[in-house]
Amino acid sequence: MREITARRIIEMKGKERIAMITAYDYPSALIADRAGMDIIFIGDSLGMVVYGEENTLNVTMEQMVFHTRAVSKAVKRALVLADMPFGSYEINIDEGVRNAVRLIQAGADAVKIEGGYDHRKLVKKLVRMGIPVMGHTGLTPQRYLRLGGYRLMGETEEEIEEILRDAKALEKAGAFAVVLEFTLADVAKLVTEEVSIPTIGIGAGPYVDGQVLVWHDLLGIYEETPPFVKKYADIGGMMRLAIESYREEVKGGVFPGREHYWEFLDKEDFRKKA
Ligand code: KIV
Ligand code: NA
Repeated sequence: MREITARRIIEMKGKERIAMITAYDYPSALIADRAGMDIIFIGDSLGMVVYGEENTLNVTMEQMVFHTRAVSKAVKRALVLADMPFGSYEINIDEGVRNAVRLIQAGADAVKIEGGYDHRKLVKKLVRMGIPVMGHTGLTPQRYLRLGGYRLMGETEEEIEEILRDAKALEKAGAFAVVLEFTLADVAKLVTEEVSIPTIGIGAGPYVDGQVLVWHDLLGIYEETPPFVKKYADIGGMMRLAIESYREEVKGGVFPGREHYWEFLDKEDFRKKA
């Protein structure tokens, strides 16, 4: 078992802020784990940032299983959380259970679903089986078509009621945490005070128990990012510069240099690395 468990995450509420990041493959998960993240999350944002889709609706269980397996191989310490993709848990409880089991068997320590109140029976069933579950309310991207795109949630009384109802239903059903996405900071604060499980915000302000960001957003892989993201680096720019240098050296006959081919290689060094 990994060091950070769902129980540990619950205990962090009010004591220590929870740091969560997405990762979709082996190298990124390895780096995130070594950086000391608490939760490494195979989000269905995979469809957009890795597969170039317009939204998350086409992500399949097969994709989630493959990527969960890759991430799981890399992570020793953090809790590995896998998203249940659109259509994998809404049809009936049996299908939800079957698909959650597939993600656990691919190496996840817990699963995440969007919504709360509507899925309280599934959450309860999974928790009783021993599968830790995280919920997700506020902006839930799997409702992209009905919402008419991604927008701030929790501006109306009705939306605030819905967010609170979801968070409370999740708490009652035994979920270990809930993501609050793109909602007013005051609404996130209210939810954080009203439930005993940790709230993890994204675009939901500072009054929550933890934060989550998407790998590509915080590292600046793409130029465009959602408005609430902080870019901690310009890795996309760095990658491009590195590849441009490589291209120029190939075109100019600079690479490979003497140190890169056999006749001039340091054989001792080569044998040590092999
Ligand atoms: O899929 C995802 O990356 C998410 C987070 C933004 C919470 O659900
Ligand atoms: Na997601």
